[in-house]
Amino acid sequence: MNIKQSEKTYFMPTTKRVDLVVKKAKGQFIWDEKGKKYLDFFSGVSVCNLGHLNETVVKAMKKQLDEYAHVSIHYYAPVHMKLGEVLAKKFGGRVFLSNTGAEANECAIKIARKFGHITGGRYEIIAFKNSFHGRTVMTSAATGQNKFHEYLKPLPPKFVFADFNDLNSVKKLINKKTAAIIIELVQGEGGIYAAQKDFVKGLRALADKHNLVLIFDEIQTGIGRTGKFFAYEHYGVKPDIVTLAKSIANGLPLAATIAAGKFGETFTYGDHGTTFGGNPVSCAAALKVIELLNKKFLDNSLKTAKYLNGKLNALKSEYNVIKEIRGLGLMIGIDLTVPSAPVVAQCLKKGLIVNATHNTVLRLLPPLTITEKDVDNAVKIIGEALSKVK
Ligand SMILES: Cc1ncc(COP(=O)(O)O)c(C=O)c1O
Repeated sequence: MNIKQSEKTYFMPTTKRVDLVVKKAKGQFIWDEKGKKYLDFFSGVSVCNLGHLNETVVKAMKKQLDEYAHVSIHYYAPVHMKLGEVLAKKFGGRVFLSNTGAEANECAIKIARKFGHITGGRYEIIAFKNSFHGRTVMTSAATGQNKFHEYLKPLPPKFVFADFNDLNSVKKLINKKTAAIIIELVQGEGGIYAAQKDFVKGLRALADKHNLVLIFDEIQTGIGRTGKFFAYEHYGVKPDIVTLAKSIANGLPLAATIAAGKFGETFTYGDHGTTFGGNPVSCAAALKVIELLNKKFLDNSLKTAKYLNGKLNALKSEYNVIKEIRGLGLMIGIDLTVPSAPVVAQCLKKGLIVNATHNTVLRLLPPLTITEKDVDNAVKIIGEALSKVK
């Protein structure tokens, strides 16, 4: 049985796989089983931000593997404790380590619900239309896209949805039962829409005024993706809770929920837990990732982002099918007047991996380590692919 038949026979039909059997991945490149080389501008959904198998990170993983792979959070694993300290200090708060983005958000929602519960029986959470927060039932309920709700109804109460970048729509939803606001600063799965500065500042003011927990879901935007360690640094607005996952361990599963002040002190023993969360090998990788993402590295990724945006805008003046180019740092959406999936397939044929999201959007999430030469190659291929559909 070949690999595609095997998928059809043995796997639940959830995510549609792209026609690419991966043999090897290194840096910004992937090779298929026939030895064809691809430039990877997706990084496994913004996970391998430092490139596949980054040597310094792999060395740290191997060193931890020589000691142990797992002991659980019932005991002290120094590497787990160290990562907690580093993240807590970086944000200013207390941390809970888990495995996936959905889990990190689930933890943030639990903190918000407990905080609401002990401050007057409040439980409503304001989320945003077109958002994405994960695939558990609770994080699906927090997601502002109907297609994720259809068969789950009745959904766990109670998320209400405001319009992104519209502060008045948020104000209208606040009532005596409101406990929190959860938002992605750049909507990723929703098609790469960045929040406006004044809007984010307005959310902070509303949260302060009404004693709400302000949660930034930085699962896709965090860990340098937008050119800052946390995307909120672009806005000059700090949330009460930030959630991280994806690229935090550059390829191993790891997630973090970091909560400031009283929000970091809301849980007591027994309120939350995990078996695998904060796995020592993942933590060793994450400590190295954080060390490598220094200001010089991040500033350099912003320079590359500027170069890429310049090239894409030049492409826009050449191809009418490009409606808009959006994003922040190396999180870029190219909105087309036509479906993006056929363009993704054309790019793949020519050796470039990009992603289609939200029907018409080409999503670029390249490793932060790409060079200007990589950008030139990628933009050339995107142009060739667009010429087939225009
Ligand atoms: C903003 C955001 N939140 C949450 C998630 C869920 O993360 P995970 O798939 O690791 O559970 C994602 C995944 O794409 C995401 O982009």
